[in-house]
Amino acid sequence: MFAPADFAENGVAVFPDAVDRQSLDSIRVHIRHLVDEFDPAGVRTVFSTGDQSHGRDEYFLTSGDKTRFFFEDGVLDDAGDLLVDKHQSLNKIGHAMHDLDPTFSAFCRSAPFEQATRAVGMLDPLLLQSMVIFKNPEIGGEVTPHTDHTFLWTEPQSVIGFWLAIDEATEENGCLWALPGGHLIPAKSRFSRTPSGDATEMITLDDAPYPDNGWVPLPAAPGTLIALHGTLPHRSAPNVSDKSRLAFTLHCIEASAEYPADNWLQRPELPFRGF
Ligand code: FE2
Repeated sequence: MFAPADFAENGVAVFPDAVDRQSLDSIRVHIRHLVDEFDPAGVRTVFSTGDQSHGRDEYFLTSGDKTRFFFEDGVLDDAGDLLVDKHQSLNKIGHAMHDLDPTFSAFCRSAPFEQATRAVGMLDPLLLQSMVIFKNPEIGGEVTPHTDHTFLWTEPQSVIGFWLAIDEATEENGCLWALPGGHLIPAKSRFSRTPSGDATEMITLDDAPYPDNGWVPLPAAPGTLIALHGTLPHRSAPNVSDKSRLAFTLHCIEASAEYPADNWLQRPELPFRGF
């Protein structure tokens, strides 16, 4: 189901067994190493799609060309100290590991990702954003319905997200859900920098909600890669299970598209690169 050949119709494509077990094990070890090395002192940014509080935060706003660590909601006490183990505390790492970190650069520029961009019709893809998504057991937060074009706007629309299951993703531990065909609905909002550049705002373009019907779960075995069109509505539930749901995402845009200067993600010292 959701074959790459039908991407234009569905806005979603599934590539089973795209990444082999050895590569998954290697990247899992590398992620563990990055968290081992991460010093949480002084970092207090919580990433929440519910209230978007990170949008006012300099640590988030300048992370487009960095490797930075974002906590789950509720893991810090009033003094900013961790209430849970560091390895269980993170929502994500982002957003430029694909250019700054040699292991991630090689991983993102390996055949599975490049072949997937071609299979869904990208012509001259640039690697814009990489994220490790933890969705840790019993603490991993909900991701509310959204489209990636809202956050990674180009003219014309061109962003496509490539979501890789490192752990098995099930309905129990918070797999992706998507609205097939929903990419034909025009974008309902745009997240951009305010004119001063040091804050963000969510601009509503259409306040009608997405339909409740037609959403499908996208359970994924480890190594499954899922392509999501930039205007495809998707979401995921919180992980209330005791099973980890580690994932990795890479977002690509077309080199020919215009990348606005008021997008939240800016890379002032890091030019865009392709595969
Ligand atoms: Fe997304």
